[in-house]
Amino acid sequence: VIREAASEMGNQVYLVGGFVRDLLMNMPNNDLDIVVEGNGIELGRILSKKLTCDKLVLHASFGTASLIFCNGTHLDIASTRREDYDFPGALPVVEESTLREDLLRRDFTINAMALCLNEDSFGDIIDYYGGFRDLQQKEIRFLHNLSFIDDPTRMLRAIKFAVRYEFKLAKVTADAMPIALKEDVFAKISAERFTEELILIYKEAKFQRMGRELIRNGIFKAWFKADYAWNFEEAESVGEQRSLTERWLISLKNLDSNEISAVLDRLTLPKSLKRITLEYLRLKQALKLEDLTDLKNLDELLAGVPLLLFNILGSDDAYTDPLKKYRLLREGIQMKTTGKDLRQSGVREGPEIGSILKQIRLAWLEGKIRTPDEEKRYLEI
Ligand code: CTP
Repeated sequence: VIREAASEMGNQVYLVGGFVRDLLMNMPNNDLDIVVEGNGIELGRILSKKLTCDKLVLHASFGTASLIFCNGTHLDIASTRREDYDFPGALPVVEESTLREDLLRRDFTINAMALCLNEDSFGDIIDYYGGFRDLQQKEIRFLHNLSFIDDPTRMLRAIKFAVRYEFKLAKVTADAMPIALKEDVFAKISAERFTEELILIYKEAKFQRMGRELIRNGIFKAWFKADYAWNFEEAESVGEQRSLTERWLISLKNLDSNEISAVLDRLTLPKSLKRITLEYLRLKQALKLEDLTDLKNLDELLAGVPLLLFNILGSDDAYTDPLKKYRLLREGIQMKTTGKDLRQSGVREGPEIGSILKQIRLAWLEGKIRTPDEEKRYLEI
């Protein structure tokens, strides 16, 4: 379909970047990046008619279009031609750059190949920078020596790709990392950009090995300005099964509260992840002060805490046993009485209802009530 659309437009159209890399390695990839030597918006419109996509997003000022399909496929279209307007109402100044320049702006040779989609050259691979050779040699190599200076997030990406594909960093590329870090290149990028790349790493199956590489290469130390005891030590098969939130919180397990706060200050985490990290922090601090054998206090602190946080707090040796015990007791509660029941049986509206409900719950936790029948009898008394 893209080939047909390209013929209709009469422009050269290419698939580029990660999709081409993964295609050559026989790996799945649902993100298609297309570059057209012409108008990206027009190609986006034609394609969205031919392929019934679920969403079409056009960015006129960048000449780009995105098509999103409900099966999870993304198709992004960029243009090697950009139309700039010097002032409102001015005629567009069309800037042309070639595919070669477009590819040169990319991060690594393996990500800088293109695949032709036009009729006459369909399927040809364009590889100006030795991407195919590096795929075969299993190396991550940047395209020019200033690559990490231009875009320091590429250091995280280099580690991500190397671990994901079990590749090595090419010597020039590996050597450039400590040099860039010494120059304090991270000072020029925003917390948003760093966070974005970091989250992408936590989403990878081999995130723990990537985490260890981030530590080993001094990336974390350079960004957070401190050498924290990050934890990426779980068995790979266990880590892989975990959600993003669990992965994140477990990696913070050995940091103290001040350190976790400092980490949060340096990142712009998605709201929900930040909220649960703060809740984790609050509980970690509170549990430290708590008498862990006092079920009443423990219940007040933990009654509404989601299972996920429970498991993570429980992975701290100091809390494993008391939390396990409390959790079993909590799971055994089959309390039936509600506030409405109490009102119907004549208890006055007000704080008394809450306090009776709490009392019943505590009786369950303490084993004074073990069945709904016993609960009824307890209420009668
Ligand atoms: N790119 C780049 N520098 C960056 C980010 C991206 O040069 N800092 C280029 C690369 O050519 C990359 C393409 O933009 O292939 C698309 O970026 P992205 O979707 O982030 O990466 P993918 O290579 O598709 O990797 P992934 O498989 O992780 O999605």
